[in-house]
Amino acid sequence: MKKRIIYFVLFPGFFILLLAGFAGDNNYFAITAKDVEFHIPKGFPQPVYDFKNNTPTPAGFVLGRKLFYDPILSKDSSISCGFCHQRIAAFAHIDHALSHGINGLIGKRNVPPLENLVWSSSFMWDGRINHLEMQPLSPISNPIEMNETIRNIIKKLQRNKEYAGMFKAAFKDSVVNSRNILRALAQFTGLMISANSRYDKFMSGEDTLSPSEYKGLQLFRDKCGQCHKEPLFTDNTFRNTGLAMDTNLHDSGVAATNGQMLDMMKFKVPTLRNIEMTYPYMHDGRFRNLKQVLDHYTQKFTKESHADPILVEGIQLTEEDKSNIIDFLKTLTDQTFLHDRRFADPSGHY
Ligand code: HEC
Ligand code: HEC
Repeated sequence: MKKRIIYFVLFPGFFILLLAGFAGDNNYFAITAKDVEFHIPKGFPQPVYDFKNNTPTPAGFVLGRKLFYDPILSKDSSISCGFCHQRIAAFAHIDHALSHGINGLIGKRNVPPLENLVWSSSFMWDGRINHLEMQPLSPISNPIEMNETIRNIIKKLQRNKEYAGMFKAAFKDSVVNSRNILRALAQFTGLMISANSRYDKFMSGEDTLSPSEYKGLQLFRDKCGQCHKEPLFTDNTFRNTGLAMDTNLHDSGVAATNGQMLDMMKFKVPTLRNIEMTYPYMHDGRFRNLKQVLDHYTQKFTKESHADPILVEGIQLTEEDKSNIIDFLKTLTDQTFLHDRRFADPSGHY
């Protein structure tokens, strides 16, 4: 009698659980219409990139996701966007200061996070690209990143049956061309939105901050907020923070793009959302932790450094102020975003 109970009750129950498990796995990567809806988070301004001209659809987003994680975009099929932009690091890269590309070549800059990009009016540390859809052409063609041409990528994708079907599902004209490749990538990267950190919950009254975090927020608003402006934590300008130029890299920032002495060592004010996860810091990853960044800001800079007027005299901070600010910065970590299944790699490589 007892044995029968085991066969008739436990075994079917076990199978049902197993099946539910499989179904659950499929749902993990499934993208629904609701998953690709774009909403402006509370308190955020109007975006710069207009999704009206490239409305995200599940098929477009899934195509963008596949392209983002597919090394086929590089010359020798070794490097994908996701190789450099790691999900666990808010799509920055935490292993090394400078980006690593094709054939083990090392780039000149720290990989920035990818988040809230539709609110950016310019891209890259020096702002040399001004449209989200144009941005991928830079890593694709860069000889030390992916070293590939868009024409060659189109050929490779046209030969691939799975991709042909995906372009058909994603775009009315079904064509595998650069426009559709770039639009699919922008649907994927444009929906990477981080707006659910403890800071956001504090702002909407759903959470509280500890005394140290709150003190840090006040100090931050007073000393850092002009440049790292809420709620995006950047004012989208370019500033010189008094860093000395690295004598090996010779990276002068905006000046290298326009030859203007006035723009020497100016770099984009980066967002600080998920900053706890995106170490090392600055355009060349020279600082390993937040304490080093804050120590930098307390220095006085010489006239010759052309540091921003806000920073030139050094920001006055006690050790306690620094630790309060760091506690506050950690409230910008957005677990919902970092674990958002929509941005996970279905091929399981990354
Ligand atoms: C070899 C590593 C590497 C690869 C591969 C790579 N990136 Fe990047 N990405 C970087 C680095 C480094 C920067 C900053 C470059 C600079 O400032 O000159 C960057 C910048 C960006 C930015 C600008 C972010 C901002 O806030 O300004 C976006 C968007 C981006 N990458 C998306 C992509 C996409 C999409 C792909 C794939 C087509 C890709 N990246 C491939 C390393 C990489
Ligand atoms: C004058 C404008 C300005 C002010 C004021 C300012 N910052 Fe920055 N911040 C920048 C710029 C520009 C960068 C990028 C510099 C670079 O990479 O060369 C930066 C970089 C950072 C980074 C590294 C980000 C990353 O992704 O690598 C952190 C952290 C940071 N700032 C925190 C602060 C804090 C905290 C304060 C206040 C104590 C502050 N900043 C004040 C302009 C400013």
